Amino acid sequence: MRILIADAFPEEHLDRIAAAHDCAYEPDTTANQLTDRIGDREVLVVRSTRVTAETLADARSLRLVVRAGSGTNTIDRDAASRLGIHVANVPGRNAVAVAELALALLLALDRNIPDTVADLRAGRWDKKRYSRARGLLGRDVGVIGLGQIGLAFAERAAALGTRVHAVAKPSRAPETLERARDIGITFVDDLTVLARTCDVLSLHLPSSDTTRHLVDRELLAHVQPGTILLNTARGDLVDEDALIEAMDSKGVRAGIDVFVDEPGTPTGTIDSRLAAHPHVYGTHHIGASTEQAQHAVAEEVVRVVEEFAAGTVLHCV
Ligand code: MLT
Repeated sequence: MRILIADAFPEEHLDRIAAAHDCAYEPDTTANQLTDRIGDREVLVVRSTRVTAETLADARSLRLVVRAGSGTNTIDRDAASRLGIHVANVPGRNAVAVAELALALLLALDRNIPDTVADLRAGRWDKKRYSRARGLLGRDVGVIGLGQIGLAFAERAAALGTRVHAVAKPSRAPETLERARDIGITFVDDLTVLARTCDVLSLHLPSSDTTRHLVDRELLAHVQPGTILLNTARGDLVDEDALIEAMDSKGVRAGIDVFVDEPGTPTGTIDSRLAAHPHVYGTHHIGASTEQAQHAVAEEVVRVVEEFAAGTVLHCV
């Protein structure tokens, strides 16, 4: 098969694909360059690069787009389905990495670590200012979304001695409930209870019509002053203007890895009031960016490509 890998991909997995297929490797391809580079390729593998309806319409030979990650919101799936192009993702393989970043942001916020580092680098010593951390032991942490990432985060937060809560839902799978029980998650009736009672809220849901602006003015009206919000899922789960208001009016603080207007390429510029806010510790959508996670994701991408080449029916999203 003729394949284009348009984002960084671990070498050993690249070699495996290249050994069996005609594989073009063009890491860091921008959305604008994609059309030219796809040419007559049948399979496209992307991570950050956006795949628009226009690109898909021009890609006459394209049969499969594989997203090297869980979310597929960077690909115009409606256009792909109209054109008969399959879209596949590799969910779960980067779950631990994302959970680790959410936890890192939580610890960084509690101890103000980025600010202490910046002060020390500038030669300032201020033990007084940094002696006001609240500590995490016994804090109430609300996990919103109990998929693989949410559960991995809940497990790690519980290991720090926090009390972990989630919203009860009749549709939860028995395996999820069993794992939640092992972790010690307690269930509350709805999101407003979670918002009112938790010191920390962590988002672990995909982007969809039903999750867009889940964290809005109405929900933020319920949170306590000083609540910490973590978003390592998708930018549009949060109404960014409403969050900025809550940060200004009641000292909400946030650890944010994902923004509504991300560049859509691995490098670029970002003009975001949220990222620039002093109550935000932001990162560059790097939740999945560990060597371990990228190897696991790449391994699964290779499997998806091989199955497609063999004509196996794909688990497509
Ligand atoms: C995912 O969808 O799994 C991640 O957002 C992948 C990424 O880091 O780009």
